Amino acid sequence: MTRESWQTRIGFILAAVGSAVGLGNLWRFPWMTSENGGAAFLLVYLGVVLLVGVPGLLAEFVIGRRSRRNPVGALSDLSNSKYWSAFGHVFVVTGVVLLSFYSVVGGWILRYFAESFTGAYFANPGAHFDAVSYGLDAVGFHLLFLGVTALVVLRGVRRGIEKATKLMMPAIVALLVALAAWGLTLDGAAEGVAFFLSPDVGFLRANFFDILPQAAGQALFTLSLGAGTMLTYASYLGEDRSLVADGTAIAVLNTLVGVLAGVVVFPILFALGSGAGAGGPGALFVSLAGAFAALPYGEVVGVVFFGVVLLAALSSSISMLEIPVSFLVDEYGVSRRRAVAGLLGVFAVTGSVCALDAGVFGVVAGPLVDLLLTGGLVGFLLFAGWVLGTAAVEELRRGAGSFAQSVATPWLYAVGVVIPVFLIFTFVSGLAGALGVAVGPLSLLGVTFDQTRVFLAVTVAVAVASFLGLRRSRSVL
Ligand code: PFF
Repeated sequence: MTRESWQTRIGFILAAVGSAVGLGNLWRFPWMTSENGGAAFLLVYLGVVLLVGVPGLLAEFVIGRRSRRNPVGALSDLSNSKYWSAFGHVFVVTGVVLLSFYSVVGGWILRYFAESFTGAYFANPGAHFDAVSYGLDAVGFHLLFLGVTALVVLRGVRRGIEKATKLMMPAIVALLVALAAWGLTLDGAAEGVAFFLSPDVGFLRANFFDILPQAAGQALFTLSLGAGTMLTYASYLGEDRSLVADGTAIAVLNTLVGVLAGVVVFPILFALGSGAGAGGPGALFVSLAGAFAALPYGEVVGVVFFGVVLLAALSSSISMLEIPVSFLVDEYGVSRRRAVAGLLGVFAVTGSVCALDAGVFGVVAGPLVDLLLTGGLVGFLLFAGWVLGTAAVEELRRGAGSFAQSVATPWLYAVGVVIPVFLIFTFVSGLAGALGVAVGPLSLLGVTFDQTRVFLAVTVAVAVASFLGLRRSRSVL
């Protein structure tokens, strides 16, 4: 059976942007920004996207295109190691974990999209969300969202994913621009924009080490990194073209949609004097939904807004389902139809557990996803840097222009050493912060180390140990 491939270059780019643009941009990004000092967060986030996100994306692309396999097959074929093959299975788990919670939120969005026509949630948005967010209703809408996702994936790479995302992405951008243009005409809109975009350097200085892990987590989630999605999408590339150019375009487009989302959300909230609103899973469905209730033509705005979020969520959820589907098709020779049908059964159960219990949902959507994406990306980076080594450089250079040719070797050092150290460090210190673990200051031989330095030292030690363990003769590192 010949393996599927994208029909056009733009089809691949739009599918990858479709995976990237989702709830991470429209919901998580504006609120992360507002909770972390507005534009100060934006600056750190942009830095992380450029210095960590793009090189990370390229690592997944290189592994995917070189192997033309799903994550499990890619790691085992390219390394011939049963350990890497075993590690590859983590990505199948990640796909399952991601879609289980994402499709619950997708179900909420589907419901709010439908209810916007009648304004069903207008009277009391807070109570409405509490009543419908977990329970049998939530299970029903989750199954509906899952069903639509499965229909797209069932039709395959070209006729399903490529065709759907080619229609969805322009629609998302056009509708968001229209919403932003309308929102900016509201009284008080300028205040909202200022809140979102005006930098507070003092805040940045004082809180840099708290902001950094949040920005890193957001960059990974929004670029769909560490799950094997981008690897899988790159494995469907038929011909050689510049991965550096495509990866940069994808990151830039994704960031623009995130900023555009902020320019839609904050003017609407500030126009009503409700400020940035509450964070958490309900933010979109309580603060913003409440704003629609109070606005002229609120139903129309609600339909358009939740329509955009629905399209964005779908173009991401199909990429999540494609990870385990490609695994079953590649590794077990199962037909796409049977793979999708079987997985539908799995997700019906795992998603329903999240839809029934807020506690489970919170753990799955928060720390579990963070852990899997960070660990997954570190794995890909070390694989590209230390297992592929010179082969990774060669792959990155294939079909690339002169700029990409010259950055290939520095890129290998970044993905092999610098970025894994950074990711492990930010993850450990973020985790310690979340758990309220305060370390240090520690005194050693009369020298006092603060918490940050202790974490940094531990990270470097762990990283060095793993690098030594991974050393291969082909590696240039
Ligand atoms: N990037 C998506 C978003 O911002 O909503 C989420 C996502 C999709 C994460 C696919 C990981 C993934 F593999």
